Amino acid sequence: MAERRKLRSEAWFGGSSKDAFMHRSWMKNEGLPSDLFDGRPVIGICNTWSELTPCNAHLRDLAERVKRGVYEAGGFPLEFPVTSLGESNMRPTAMLFRNLASMDVEESIRANPIDGVVLLVGCDKTTPSLVMGAASCDLPTIVLSGGPMLNGDYRGEKIGSGTVVWRYHEEVKAGRMSVESFLAAEAGMSRSAGSCMTMGTASTMASMVEALGIALPDNAALPAVDARRNALAQLTGRRIVKMVHEDLVLSKILTKTAFENAIRVNGAIGGSTNAVLHLIAIARRIGVDLTLADWDRCGRGVPTIVDLQPSGRFLMEDFCYAGGLPVVMRMLAEKGIIDRDALTVTGQSVWDNVNTAENFNKEVIRDFDQALAPEGGIAVLRGNLAPNGAVLKPSAATERLMVHRGRAVVFESIEDYKKRIIDPDLDIDASSVMVLKNCGPRGYPGMAEVGNMGLPPKLLAQGVEDMVRISDARMSGTAYGTVVLHVAPEAAAGGPLALVREGDMIELDVPNRRLHLDVSDEELERRRGSWRAPEPPNSGYQSLYVSNVLQADEGADFGFLQGRRGAGIPRNSH
Ligand code: FES
Repeated sequence: MAERRKLRSEAWFGGSSKDAFMHRSWMKNEGLPSDLFDGRPVIGICNTWSELTPCNAHLRDLAERVKRGVYEAGGFPLEFPVTSLGESNMRPTAMLFRNLASMDVEESIRANPIDGVVLLVGCDKTTPSLVMGAASCDLPTIVLSGGPMLNGDYRGEKIGSGTVVWRYHEEVKAGRMSVESFLAAEAGMSRSAGSCMTMGTASTMASMVEALGIALPDNAALPAVDARRNALAQLTGRRIVKMVHEDLVLSKILTKTAFENAIRVNGAIGGSTNAVLHLIAIARRIGVDLTLADWDRCGRGVPTIVDLQPSGRFLMEDFCYAGGLPVVMRMLAEKGIIDRDALTVTGQSVWDNVNTAENFNKEVIRDFDQALAPEGGIAVLRGNLAPNGAVLKPSAATERLMVHRGRAVVFESIEDYKKRIIDPDLDIDASSVMVLKNCGPRGYPGMAEVGNMGLPPKLLAQGVEDMVRISDARMSGTAYGTVVLHVAPEAAAGGPLALVREGDMIELDVPNRRLHLDVSDEELERRRGSWRAPEPPNSGYQSLYVSNVLQADEGADFGFLQGRRGAGIPRNSH
């Protein structure tokens, strides 16, 4: 008979040494019976529950469901908290803390007697930060998302998280909606537990982990308050115990193929541009070479077939009832767009997981010949304005602006933008190109979600609905518009964006993936002579962040965090 594989946790809990006594004895103050320490898999439930992260405020309940499953399968569950990043409250931006939270996750896992991990995530940055940290450890790992809120509802209109805020706010600025009506929509937008129910960053990342194969099927779309989400949690608990026995570590699932599948799924769902940063960062943690070029290559020709806001009409609850992500993955697999043989946490292939999925609403999940947008992938633009790349989401942009030449109206910072955009004398018209600097990883710092700058009120009042906007910032996954983001290198790192001046002509050519500043190289060199880098913060976490953060095209991780360090057993100092 094959000898049982020794579990990592036995280095803490196994045997009769003084150390084992100490490790077990203190744990027993939680009322845990002795047989839990008999060599069964210890499952860490890594929880981002927090009342300051409203989208994850229900995760302690979900953790209890996971524990049921772990116990049923013969495991020993131990829940632990990690830094929770709440998108709606954290300032200056939750992204500033993504890498910090990932360090917390990685070190918490490695330092403790854990054999397998369940990552409880939800709000935007909680998913990538936990997956990044876990990837560096490479234990058996499974992700469980908290699920989206129920559809927003206000005065009979289905309203989507975030997306409606941008739209209503522009209505107020244009004088078409009263402030009272605007404020009354607050409670209607967020009427149940869960994360944003548009295809924003949270839903995109919940879909990405399902597409990568590191979450169970249906993880993305089941609403937070749907009883089936609780059942999924229990199944997740059961499955992680088996994954430990099978030694099914993350790196066996997170292959280059898995990332290529996820990029293609992102195109089909009209997912957030934030996924570009997060997937590149996760890939570099696990040791997969994923670049912006992969995003452009894999996304090309993938139509957006899921009709969800902000690109389309419906919301995550509708997506769930239509059949959810398994339907999309089945359609893509049948067309040969994604690799059906990729391994997943079920221990089976993508195709095994999705081949029975059925589409119950073809308005929500459309046939390919009825696609919402023929080009759903993320367009990666290059040129003298973005030598290392910039991104644009075609499905959220305006077709007639995809090839555009216009005069730059330049904002040196977000504060400069806020001050001048309301000026009725601002020299700007609908053909202008709005340029925002110093909002990238180093510049803001943290790469704020301000790239979808609101249009000038005077143009909104004229009925202008979209303009070309360019920045080194990010954009909320719930936002839309012809918005060029993640320009690399960023202005604060001395990228050409820093050298743009008012009145320069800029050419955007999405079909040819080109972003060009119509200024000679000699003139740009001359301007560079007078450019000064902004003063970096001189202490605290922001100083660590600015000195170590990589540019957007490299995932904006810290350079020193890249790579898989494994979960070797640390020394014991008792
Ligand atoms: Fe938390 Fe959108 S603010 S998911």
